[in-house]
Amino acid sequence: MKVLVIGSGAREHALCRSLSLDPDVTALYCAPGNAGIGEVAELHPVDALDGGAVSALATELGVDLVVVGPEAPLVAGVADAVREKDIAVFGPSAQAARLEGSKAFAKDVMAAAGVPTARSYVCTTPDEVDAALDAFGAPYVVKDDGLAAGKGVVVTEDIEAARAHANSCERVVVEEYLDGPEVSLFAITDGDTVLPLQPAQDFKRALDGDEGPNTGGMGAYSPLPWADPKLVDEVLETVLQPTVDELRRRGTPFSGLLYAGLAITSRGVRVIEFNARFGDPETQVVLARLRTPLAGVLMAAAAGHLADLEPLRWSEESAVTVVVASHNYPGTPRTGDPITGLDEVAAQDAPHAYVLHAGTRREGDAVVSAGGRVLSVTATGKDLTQARDRAYRAVSRIRLDGAQHRTDIAAEAAQDA
Ligand code: AMP
Ligand code: GLY
Repeated sequence: MKVLVIGSGAREHALCRSLSLDPDVTALYCAPGNAGIGEVAELHPVDALDGGAVSALATELGVDLVVVGPEAPLVAGVADAVREKDIAVFGPSAQAARLEGSKAFAKDVMAAAGVPTARSYVCTTPDEVDAALDAFGAPYVVKDDGLAAGKGVVVTEDIEAARAHANSCERVVVEEYLDGPEVSLFAITDGDTVLPLQPAQDFKRALDGDEGPNTGGMGAYSPLPWADPKLVDEVLETVLQPTVDELRRRGTPFSGLLYAGLAITSRGVRVIEFNARFGDPETQVVLARLRTPLAGVLMAAAAGHLADLEPLRWSEESAVTVVVASHNYPGTPRTGDPITGLDEVAAQDAPHAYVLHAGTRREGDAVVSAGGRVLSVTATGKDLTQARDRAYRAVSRIRLDGAQHRTDIAAEAAQDA
């Protein structure tokens, strides 16, 4: 099977790594990719948001399957453009990707499907915003309706900050605050059958102890030793299957990766958000534990044959990933700094720990930073403690001027295990 992956982050590196280890994959391409992905896949430059360019590249390469990684191309209809060329594609249509592209649309689908989520109001004027903030009280939760790369949500005790965020957006969803731990659960679906993966937890705040601003994600781990073993079945039944059924009923079936961001509240599981693609950095730890070769799973979803697939096989091991970010992330990150120590990780920590590249590019013989989140250092071990130790040992070998990372990824869960 010849596979083309669209995207350039650590998620795409994790996807490409797993696909490169799959004996059924005879050729692997990534567009546009990054310095690390170039070591496992052949890179091609492309504007990932341009459906015409992506489908032309897929045709030219003669691939059997296109995997679209990030949300922006999905929302822009890149999967539709590939499907129109009769090439199998893993990733939802633009219509179905609105589940991530519009928070208001997601709320509407959840209401219709009876999926438990935070009560909310969609607001477009300052008066509506004030009324909604008043109705729920502090802490205030204000979400930009559109795509905002994980940075469109403000959770604050400060009503002025809540108002200011609302006023900076065209349309917002103001919702009730959900307490309790968060879980990310991914499911692969062909629009009908839903196959949940293993749950993971990510760390959205920039600093240790969940302090600092929200980011795209600073680390993740899986499995969750503290979670109820029945959680996955419950979420399949109350969240994932009803949502997939509702989108099919509307004539816009969702095929691809459905990501449920959940809060485990004292009153039960609630959906915080849906995403229409693999999450980053959770993908890095979930795929580290998946034993079933990946290409066949993604192809079964793309071709609508998921019901025929054997049950997925999982490693008993734990996985931890730690994101190394550039100076000043999540503000305007500094880029162009050289990264060293990558060879030391490859020589001393592999195969238990490895580096997945996000914002990197090659400059001659050097690898330099090219984005906010630069690398995702992933490790496996017999338990979370061992996986953490291995991940942080590898992180300590990497040198990037001004870089930052959290030191407490999976620390609490490892202690409880
Ligand atoms: P989202 O982009 O919707 O995932 O939101 C980003 C982060 O904001 C989530 O991971 C939560 O930590 C937080 N958040 C979002 N919605 C709520 C809510 N209703 N209650 C509490 N925290 C929330
Ligand atoms: N891990 C959060 C996200 O991918 O949106």
